[in-house]
Amino acid sequence: MVKGILEKYDRLVPRYTSYPTAPQFKEDVNDAVYSDWLSRLPEDMALSLYVHVPFCDTMCWFCGCNTKIINRYDPVEAYLETLLREIDLIADILGPKRTVSHIHWGGGSPTILKPEHTRKLGQALHERFQFSESAEFAVEIDPRDLGDDSLQALADAGITRASLGVQDVNPEVQHAVNRIQPVEVTRHVIETLRSYGVERVNVDLMYGLPYQTVAGIKTNVDTVLEMQPDRVSLFGYAHVPWMKTHQKRIPDDALPGRDERHDMMMEAAHGLMSQGYRWIGLDHFAREDDAMTRALDSGELHRNFQGYTTDPCPALIGLGASSIGSLPQGYIQNHTPVRTWRAAIEAGKPGIAKGVVLDDDDRLRRAIIERLMCDLHVDVKAVCATYGLSPDTLMPAFDALQPVQADGVCTIDGWVITIPEESRILMRTVAAAFDKYLSPDAQRHSRAV
Ligand SMILES: C[S@@+](CC[C@H](N)C(=O)[O-])C[C@H]1O[C@@H](n2cnc3c(N)ncnc32)[C@H](O)[C@@H]1O
Ligand code: SF4
Repeated sequence: MVKGILEKYDRLVPRYTSYPTAPQFKEDVNDAVYSDWLSRLPEDMALSLYVHVPFCDTMCWFCGCNTKIINRYDPVEAYLETLLREIDLIADILGPKRTVSHIHWGGGSPTILKPEHTRKLGQALHERFQFSESAEFAVEIDPRDLGDDSLQALADAGITRASLGVQDVNPEVQHAVNRIQPVEVTRHVIETLRSYGVERVNVDLMYGLPYQTVAGIKTNVDTVLEMQPDRVSLFGYAHVPWMKTHQKRIPDDALPGRDERHDMMMEAAHGLMSQGYRWIGLDHFAREDDAMTRALDSGELHRNFQGYTTDPCPALIGLGASSIGSLPQGYIQNHTPVRTWRAAIEAGKPGIAKGVVLDDDDRLRRAIIERLMCDLHVDVKAVCATYGLSPDTLMPAFDALQPVQADGVCTIDGWVITIPEESRILMRTVAAAFDKYLSPDAQRHSRAV
């Protein structure tokens, strides 16, 4: 990639974990609308569940997640009680026991739950939903200060995939981001989970953190690969201190520049690929034999709020404060303040803060954006045909892509758009051409590079 091109396209663009993106969510999509949508879901439609636990013990200065630091356990226990009520409430609206094929607990750190509470949450979900035989049940894990009893509880709850935050193994970097995590701690958690039968393991790494170097990134990759994860996520640090004020604790002058970030990402990518991992979408790597690699090869990879997924379910139900759901009719987000979400649940309402109703044009653009973000390739006319719509309305997007094509960031052949491998990291820029809501100066998103 020519560095000048990188500079030109280093703009603020959405990550397209949804389309329309979160800034389009409005308050007219409320509890009543959501309840109606839920009650109309066909009985035989398999569902996915996302459960959000918005608490952590300490704040990592880079954190962009929706979480709160707590130094007492009571708020977690109280949160769990509300979560259990929410599970009952939503299951009641849905009617007969529904089948779920994907379950994801995210955060924050769901592993902040005490072992008995992890079991209780798992049990509640099993009681109110029918887990399909091949259901994937993934949990985000902060490996620090995690006792073996907590890991045993996760295994007892039935998790099938563990997703561990690692980020960087260098003590200097760890110190600068307020996240001390010795390699032995990570290794122990992975080994213990595997000994309890949780064999599938993902690891999160980051680049662009303070004091990181290209050589350090190589060490991170080598160290993590010794633990033989099935998948590795490689996230570019999104520095948005105007939204996440704790990020101001990271000294600006310790942050790598754009070109260094690019070199770090490529170092990690090459290191992972040289060890047999395939680069998937923007930021995932998976082993050849992994379900995500197979989904990529068969054109069945998807993108949702958790990033890339093999989950094809058209209905994702979000549980917990701030969680986002996706139904065939549209997107919905729960209230973010725990107090507001709890008041709604206690009043017997789902606790929806906002959402967006999808129209045919949104669905079409969403499908095109998803294919670009997953496959780096889309046949726009073929996608339009599946929606019974004419591609002519999308001509402005093709016009917008002409200069992007001239810069070699994509190729256009008739209605077919392809992003060459060397421009993979600019896929969001190509996808953005199909985003009819994107305002050029939106400050809500992170850098493309
Ligand atoms: C909810 S956390 C994972 C679980 C657990 N809380 C932990 O940190 O170990 C999800 C992941 O998001 C990534 N992440 C967090 N803040 C980020 C940011 N500002 N930019 C890019 N990635 C970020 C990290 O890799 C982190 O592991
Ligand atoms: S990165 Fe994970 S552990 Fe750190 S503050 Fe964010 S959610 Fe919590």
